Amino acid sequence: MLEGPIAVVGGTGKLGTAIARRLAKAGRAVIIGSRAVQSAMEAATHVGFGTTGLSNADAAAAGSIVLVTVPFAAQEATLAEIAPHVSGKLVVDTTVPLVPPKVMRVQLPPEGSAAQRAQRLLGPGVTVVSAFHNVAAHKLATDQDIDCDVLVFGDDKDARAQVIALVELTGLCGIHGGALANSAAAEALTSVLIFINRTYQVDGAGLLISGQLGRPAL
Ligand SMILES: NC(=O)c1ccc[n+]([C@@H]2O[C@H](COP(=O)([O-])OP(=O)(O)OC[C@H]3O[C@@H](n4cnc5c(N)ncnc54)[C@H](OP(=O)(O)O)[C@@H]3O)[C@@H](O)[C@H]2O)c1
Repeated sequence: MLEGPIAVVGGTGKLGTAIARRLAKAGRAVIIGSRAVQSAMEAATHVGFGTTGLSNADAAAAGSIVLVTVPFAAQEATLAEIAPHVSGKLVVDTTVPLVPPKVMRVQLPPEGSAAQRAQRLLGPGVTVVSAFHNVAAHKLATDQDIDCDVLVFGDDKDARAQVIALVELTGLCGIHGGALANSAAAEALTSVLIFINRTYQVDGAGLLISGQLGRPAL
């Protein structure tokens, strides 16, 4: 996997803080980004394990891999903020295109998926991979084992493999899901999982791929 610090842009939030903590606990240098440096520093203190906090732009500039963990409504502005600092880098977008209040209804953007939207907004000089759409942040925030695989999407298979290694550092199983366009499937599935959570009173339904997976043939 890529050496160097991992930036978590929007890392003050539920998903970002949880991923940051698991990565930092696994020994990686993690930088939390926020629109407010003070918030980033407070979140970094909360995460511990040597995690530091910076502005989103400075975190993106310092990271060798940049995770983006912000709500769909904030995706465009956040990517505009970090775009000057991620040229040539791997950006892991976790955005699920939920449009409140109807979060149990699939509402994909015109690009086809939030991941493709991220690629359009960042341009071809950035490698976008998407992941973590279906795992509940409050479960990631604990040390418990989680019954949820992480589907990883991207047009560059080596970049996908890098992100799968990163997912494995968080204690989860990352699985190649194919092209970035396929991210629509996992993004849409999140609304289905939220529906299942509410309908069956589940504390964070997840996704497990059945069958015996061999080595990826890519
Ligand atoms: N929560 C989950 O269980 C979960 C699971 C899978 C995927 N996801 C996806 O992961 C992404 C992050 O989810 P989350 O639950 O962690 O989100 P969140 O806690 O609501 O927000 C994350 C961070 O985004 C920044 N932010 C919020 N509103 C913003 C705005 N209007 N403009 C700019 N920045 C804003 C904030 O950081 P600062 O104020 O510090 O800048 C905030 O701490 C979402 O796309 C979500 O759909 C979430």
